[in-house]
Amino acid sequence: MVLTPRFPHFLHGGDYNPDQWLDREDILEKDAEAMEKAHVNAVSLGIFAWDALEPEEGVYDFAWLDRVMDRLWRRGIHVILATPSGARPAWMAEKYPEVLRVNSEFRRNHFGGRHNHCPSSPVYREKVRGIDTALARRYASHPAVILWHISNEFSGDCYCPLCQERFRDWLREKYGTLDELNRAWFTGFWSMRYTAWSQIEPPSPMGQMSNLSLLLDWRRFSTWQCRDFISMEKEAVHACNPELPCTANLMEAFWDYDYFSLAEVLDVVSWDNYPAWRGGDDERVACGAALNHDMMYALKKQPFLMMESTPSNVNWHSVNKLKKPGMHLLSSMQAVAHGSQSVLYFQWRKGRGNAEMFHGAVLSHDGRSDTRVFRDVTEVGEILEKLDGKLYAADVPAARVCILYDWNCRWAVENAQTGLAHGMAYHETVLNHYHAFWRAGIPVTFCDMREETDLSGFSLVICPQLYLFMNGIEEKLRAFTEAGGTLVMTYFSGIADSTNLTFLGDAPHSLTDVFGVRETEMDALYPDEENTVVMDNGRTYRATGICSLLAEEGCEVAGTYGKDFYAGGAAITRNAYGKGTAWYIGARLDPDCLDDFYTSLASSLHLEPALDVSLPRGVIAHRRGDMVFLQNYSGKPAFFSLPGSWQDACTDEKVPDTVELPAWSVRMICKESLSGTGE
Ligand code: GLA
Ligand code: ZN
Repeated sequence: MVLTPRFPHFLHGGDYNPDQWLDREDILEKDAEAMEKAHVNAVSLGIFAWDALEPEEGVYDFAWLDRVMDRLWRRGIHVILATPSGARPAWMAEKYPEVLRVNSEFRRNHFGGRHNHCPSSPVYREKVRGIDTALARRYASHPAVILWHISNEFSGDCYCPLCQERFRDWLREKYGTLDELNRAWFTGFWSMRYTAWSQIEPPSPMGQMSNLSLLLDWRRFSTWQCRDFISMEKEAVHACNPELPCTANLMEAFWDYDYFSLAEVLDVVSWDNYPAWRGGDDERVACGAALNHDMMYALKKQPFLMMESTPSNVNWHSVNKLKKPGMHLLSSMQAVAHGSQSVLYFQWRKGRGNAEMFHGAVLSHDGRSDTRVFRDVTEVGEILEKLDGKLYAADVPAARVCILYDWNCRWAVENAQTGLAHGMAYHETVLNHYHAFWRAGIPVTFCDMREETDLSGFSLVICPQLYLFMNGIEEKLRAFTEAGGTLVMTYFSGIADSTNLTFLGDAPHSLTDVFGVRETEMDALYPDEENTVVMDNGRTYRATGICSLLAEEGCEVAGTYGKDFYAGGAAITRNAYGKGTAWYIGARLDPDCLDDFYTSLASSLHLEPALDVSLPRGVIAHRRGDMVFLQNYSGKPAFFSLPGSWQDACTDEKVPDTVELPAWSVRMICKESLSGTGE
């Protein structure tokens, strides 16, 4: 699968803001020269350039962009062309205040910042369509342009009267009648019943935050708004050349919008990757980044682009560490190992002023290319060129493990006022379940609960906190297990339907016979409290946060609680169902316990690791095509031996039987027989 058919190669480069330097032709010339030196082959242009492109209403200035593009193209550098809707010119905000966003306290923002627009405003949409169309007419057939970059990191909600009206329309369409909405939202509670559509407002700290069904529908509506806005922009740029693919740069699995839904209107998924590397033992951070990469792959079940990453540090983490020597290549190659067709940065050159003047960049204020960062970046460019022939077209192995990750569920779980109140930690919980597979280099994918989700090809399906059951997921899970699949579900699953109304009856709803168990009560533990789970293999593990009480209905008990009034009661159960097995995990288990649990499941299910060898902690092997990426996140040098004979994919040299992998380093290796001079 090729994401950028006009240039079917690994992309290396990133956000380039010549619009900040229009009075410095000398610097722009040096940029192009230095890009070539750094093996940059693609840049993202014009992301925040609206004021330079349309300095006055309806007056477009493309002369500077023509010059920049031609200069880049002369050196063979490609362009990811942005639509500038992420930030708007001051003249527009002054003349049409309706383009500005209204905050959750129902107050209109002033001009400033970015992502500060109303997605409903007809004026804003007209202005965006105008500039997008003009850009497309001029550049959609320019040979340098390989991809549209729609806006930038969509986020947030608008509470203006127009958006409120759209929300009411959306609800009318969804529920048909107010009676139905009142039923689905359980508005008999606290005198919430609506008697006219006009009474419905978005959730706000100034008003209604206690109607959890409203909260859930507001997130769905906001996703729909964003999707609709992306579609509008896509239509505008595609009018000139429908062949040029579109992306919008997503963020890590991000709370605001359902990314599975947004991905449906994108041709290419791309994302901005900014892990907070600590520069010591970075195993957990690396696992988090890996999960996000796999999620981006999973959104469309196809490779993705890493649209941004920093060449050194950022300026918005709580502590902005530099990358340790080696970490730049390691984190870049991690993205590639998980299916990225690019390593792109924010930003090419540090600006002279304002909020990002101290954010890491390929070129700093000294403009020098004899720096550590520039050398690190150049090295990545060179390696991508070397690997291009062997790796670009190679896909990641098909996953036999699927984790259900659903934004609807996440919103509902984290808003649920129960157990740990606001500490249900959906994403973190998923990460704990993902860890064992990542550590072993066993491919994992993610699915949500959309109608089209098909679980039949998987061997193992994991449902952490699948609180909502919707769109017939329970029938799919039942059929999957019946046919021989292994199903794992945790506490707080199968509690409520798609509008967040609880089911009346046993939990997990309609699957109690599959698990042979009912979840009857959920106990919460204080942060300084813990329980234990004693496994039938004799091991004891820690449980923290949540311990649910399980009533056995024919299951086998694999682990029991060690303490409290429910000591001796079932904590982990196993049930044979049809040709398969269904596990229920009642407690929030320590990552160690989940690691052991899944390691043993993986071996009984013969899930293939990237390498059949046990690696030191923090050392990860991951496969893409025929290549294995050996990665060391442990913060110290690692020594281990490899099964079979391997060669280095960059140098073609034979890899010694005992490998030494320095701290924060990566090595790409291939089986000796599969590559080399003959290919
Ligand atoms: C985001 C934005 C960029 C820049 C970087 C800084 O990813 O898309 O414009 O602000 O963060 O890390
Ligand atoms: Zn609005």
